Order: sequence, then C-alpha cells, then structure tokens
Amino acid sequence: MRQTKFLIVKVSTLVLMLGSLIATSQSYAGGEMPSKEACESPSSAAVKGGCVMTDRKKGNCMACHQFKGIEQTTLQAGNIAPPLVAMKQRFPDKAKLRAQVWDATVANPDSSMPPFGRHKILSDDEIDSIVEFLSTL
Ligand code: HEC
Repeated sequence: MRQTKFLIVKVSTLVLMLGSLIATSQSYAGGEMPSKEACESPSSAAVKGGCVMTDRKKGNCMACHQFKGIEQTTLQAGNIAPPLVAMKQRFPDKAKLRAQVWDATVANPDSSMPPFGRHKILSDDEIDSIVEFLSTL
C-alpha cells in the first residue's frame, strides 16, 4: 500500500516534469520559424502569425519578402519587396505595422502588396497575429 502511494507520487512527478519540458520547448524565441507541428496548435499569437505568413494559402509573405527564419525551412524567399528586418525598431507603433498589412495601398497606391485586410484575404485575428510575429523580427 505504502509502495503504491510512493509509485503514484513518482509517476505524477515524472508527468509534471515532462509537461514542463514540453511547455518550455514550445515557448517562442523571436525570429525562429515555427515548425509544422507548432503550427497545428500555436502556443502564442506570434507563433500563429509566423504560421499564417508562411502558409501559401494565407499570407504567402515570403513570395515577396525575406525574413528571419525562412532559411530554417525549405521555402524560398522572394526579392520583390524589402526584407522584413528590425521591425520592432522601425515600427514601434504596432498600429502602423497593422495598417501596412491590412492595406498597403494606403501608404503606396501603386503597391504590389495585396491588401490583406481590405480584400479579406486574411481575417482580423490573423493580421493581429502577424503583427505580433513581425514585432519579434
Ligand atoms: C506581391 C508581393 C508582396 C507580398 C505577397 C507581400 N508584400 Fe509586403 N510589401 C511588398 C512591397 C512591394 C512593399 C514595399 C512597400 C510598398 O510598395 O507597399 C512591401 C512592404 C511591406 C512592409 C513594410 C516594410 C518596410 O520595410 O517598410 C511590411 C511590414 C510588409 N510588406 C509585410 C508583409 C506581410 C506581413 C505579408 C504577408 C501577409 C506581405 N508583406 C506580403 C510586397 C509584398
């Protein structure tokens, strides 16, 4: 009886330890490209944003932009648009960043960047998560 109790305590400690290990490995270090597995149930808005950006059926942002993390994937980044670097420094105001993704033609009427929000290519929630991901770059 005593031994069974001891065993239960041991097993539960092990489960807890494993749980925290998994939780730690899911925590997002900025600039890293979320893995396919991480995209199945994104652990944060930033992770989700990275997934939406690199999904060909969604953002497909790498068609035109280079950004950190792409080199960790099998995706090829295009060269049409400026690389998405130092976003936090260059866009301290997240609203400006969001506006660019929502409708690039406001800032540049000739922009070749699709107006993701205005044309409903992406949802508001997806655009919000992209802004979170961009802010880690
Ligand atoms: C078809 C090409 C194309 C695609 C796809 C595209 N962009 Fe752009 N993007 C551009 C161009 C061109 C610019 C340069 C400014 C302009 O013309 O609007 C730009 C500018 C930007 C900027 C401002 C960069 C700076 O340094 O000022 C951000 C942020 C941005 N894009 C984010 C995104 C995100 C996020 C996605 C995916 C959801 C995306 N873009 C998809 C073409 C593209």
